[in-house]
Amino acid sequence: MFELETLSPKQIVAELDKYIIGQKKAKKAVAIALRNRVRRQKLDDAMREEVAPKNIIMIGPTGVGKTEIAKRLSKLCGAPFLKVEATKYTEVGYVGRDVESMVRDLMNVAINMVKAEMREQVIKEAEARTEDIILDILLPGVKNKPQQPQPDQVNQGAIPLPEVIDERTISTREKFRDMLRKGMFEDKEIDINVSKKVMPAFEIFSGSNFEEMDLNLGGIAGIFGNNKKKKRKATIKNAREVILNEEIDKLIDTDKAADIAKERVQEMGIIFIDEIDKVAGKENRGGGVDVSREGVQRDLLPIVEGSKVNTKYGMIDTAHILFIAAGAFHMSKPSDLIPELQGRFPIRVELEALGAEDFERILTQPENALIKQYKELLKTEEITLEFTDDAVKRLSYLAQEVNSKTENIGARRLHTVMEFLLEDVSFEATELKGQTISITPEYINEKLGTIIEDQDLSRYIL
Ligand SMILES: Nc1ncnc2c1ncn2[C@@H]1O[C@H](COP(=O)(O)OP(=O)(O)OP(=O)(O)O)[C@@H](O)[C@H]1O
Ligand SMILES: [Mg+2]
Repeated sequence: MFELETLSPKQIVAELDKYIIGQKKAKKAVAIALRNRVRRQKLDDAMREEVAPKNIIMIGPTGVGKTEIAKRLSKLCGAPFLKVEATKYTEVGYVGRDVESMVRDLMNVAINMVKAEMREQVIKEAEARTEDIILDILLPGVKNKPQQPQPDQVNQGAIPLPEVIDERTISTREKFRDMLRKGMFEDKEIDINVSKKVMPAFEIFSGSNFEEMDLNLGGIAGIFGNNKKKKRKATIKNAREVILNEEIDKLIDTDKAADIAKERVQEMGIIFIDEIDKVAGKENRGGGVDVSREGVQRDLLPIVEGSKVNTKYGMIDTAHILFIAAGAFHMSKPSDLIPELQGRFPIRVELEALGAEDFERILTQPENALIKQYKELLKTEEITLEFTDDAVKRLSYLAQEVNSKTENIGARRLHTVMEFLLEDVSFEATELKGQTISITPEYINEKLGTIIEDQDLSRYIL
């Protein structure tokens, strides 16, 4: 069912390699952790309960790929995956989101995932139903009753000839079906009934813990008319989508979806906590902010350790959710985290600072490499953009120079340097149609040379 199940650690690393250069240790740790979940699934019940996930902290300077690893992981991951920023949370009682909400969010991710899979299973049926509903609207009465009975027939109570009418109506219906499929009515407006979403009433007093409200209001919603239908006009094109979604909803067994999702969250769920370093720092430096920081850590503890969190789909046990935390830790150290929390993250991996050689590869190799992006962008203006190998080298070297002279912002430097380098080309692109622009070391020197020599200038510009 999961793609993940079939991926070996090496394959996971290979997938990450497509987007992230270097950082072997981090990739390896993550891959092992993922694979261990799959292995755990195969153990007998007693042992499976015992095996706790080995949570990971990724430590590395800014802009070296921590968040990028998380993003790519989530894409290739068949498991429910949530990425959150630790800074988004505040201690219970403060304004902000409570830490437990991450579990509810993960559950929502899983629900959507399971529903999407179920959707695949029912889509054919739902499409057929949708077509019939639209035909019913287009040809009211055609299905069951004779088509537009003549007034005299009605008055005189004439006896309709069922067979004849049936055949006629059926063939009309089929003709319309045919035309509908050919897209001949796409812009025709019809009246549809749509379920009204009645929520605004709660938003007024929902405050920060909307999900909790949501939790308790399931039953009350009906009183406020949550199931009321509302008539509205829509083109068949738009109506089809609305009706299809409603039919899908009807066909999907929500309880079953919730059960499956819950199981997945508990057994395979992954939460990536980014910016963990920003809630580290024990010293009470700035008053309230720090109190709240440590509070966030304390609130995190039970969740990471394993506890039950109430969601609208029932209690979720977090004991086997895998947590991957990441942070630059240049203002603080992992040892500034409260000791209990440190212990919950037994695996530490360091990501290395990136140098000129890494930049060369980052500029060219990943599937989303910057140079590839700019080439594609300019191609839409019918400009062929080329970079000589020497140019890539030069650019990487310069990016590295700026990083070492001002502040090391890692691969993010490439974004600023590239943007500045290609500013003129980007600006004049519409007039350069049909040309080939070759970026050479000379071109780079001309555009960037003076700025890079002048530290003050590069501080502002690059
Ligand atoms: N090793 C790498 N390979 C390819 N691209 C990278 C690499 N490191 C960083 N990048 C690119 O640099 C940008 C910033 O990286 P990312 O968001 O992962 O930084 P980070 O490590 O999370 O930093 P921070 O600590 O500031 O959050 C992204 O656009 C990413 O694609
Ligand atoms: Mg980041």
